[in-house]
Amino acid sequence: MKNKFEVVPLKSLDEWEDDLLRRYPNPDEIATSKSTEEYRNYNEPERDTVREFYRLNHTYQTYDFVMQKEAEFLTFNKKEMPVWNAFDFLNQLVDDSDPDTDLDQFQHLLQTSEAIRKDGHPDWMVMVGLLHDMGKVLCLFGEPQWAVVGDTFPVGCAYSDKIVYPEFFANNPDYTNPKYNTKYGVYSPNCGLRNVHMSWGHDEYVYHMVKDRLPEQGLYMLRYHSFYAQHRENAYDHLMDDHDREMFRWVKLFNPYDLYSKNPTPPNWAELKPYYEDLVVKYLPPTLKF
Ligand SMILES: [Fe+2]
Ligand SMILES: [Fe+2]
Repeated sequence: MKNKFEVVPLKSLDEWEDDLLRRYPNPDEIATSKSTEEYRNYNEPERDTVREFYRLNHTYQTYDFVMQKEAEFLTFNKKEMPVWNAFDFLNQLVDDSDPDTDLDQFQHLLQTSEAIRKDGHPDWMVMVGLLHDMGKVLCLFGEPQWAVVGDTFPVGCAYSDKIVYPEFFANNPDYTNPKYNTKYGVYSPNCGLRNVHMSWGHDEYVYHMVKDRLPEQGLYMLRYHSFYAQHRENAYDHLMDDHDREMFRWVKLFNPYDLYSKNPTPPNWAELKPYYEDLVVKYLPPTLKF
């Protein structure tokens, strides 16, 4: 697994997000078989790296892998930084993509939060926009891309065929393990997502980082923003309880701001800075633990 191509199959993390836009071109649409088919026929070199990325992700994201990463990272004993240094740290995440066309991580966060702010949503949701991809710092701790980004999904129970590239789950050892490969696996019907372990990545990590600091609606947005198999495809209703269903209205509200706010013009940070400095003081501790 130390092979370079297994650690960074994507030239840029943006390749995953570009692929999401091809899969979900319309803000409100639940995917139809037709759009899935069109997506399948889409042809360009970037698709091969995304495919390879998902092959690795689906092969290695097992129940045991998730347990191991939760134990490793949810102790938050790696690093401690003042909040604004943490954003600078995240921005060290540069990859081989075209520097002229790609926005840095902070610009994406700011465009997401600004789009939320313009629509008049509560300031905690603006905070969520600014913070939602902070977990991508996992890449800077040497984690492979497939353990940081990509659509997330429950582990410990059968993988839905609504997850992108479902055929690659056949390579995952849990796929043939009777403990994990039934509809409910280690869970019980409608047990609630709080009892479900999700594939490991930047969503779960940032949720735990700030779970005492934001309203629950915002925490759901952070924790499940890459759970496309549910918020777009409704594939895991059998694990959700009524409270999850209520909270997923907020996850769905957040998704278009993440996916459709990208704009080649960078936000004017000098102008926006005073607002965000106050916002960060209101919601976050002076330092963030990683
Ligand atoms: Fe994200
Ligand atoms: Fe994002």
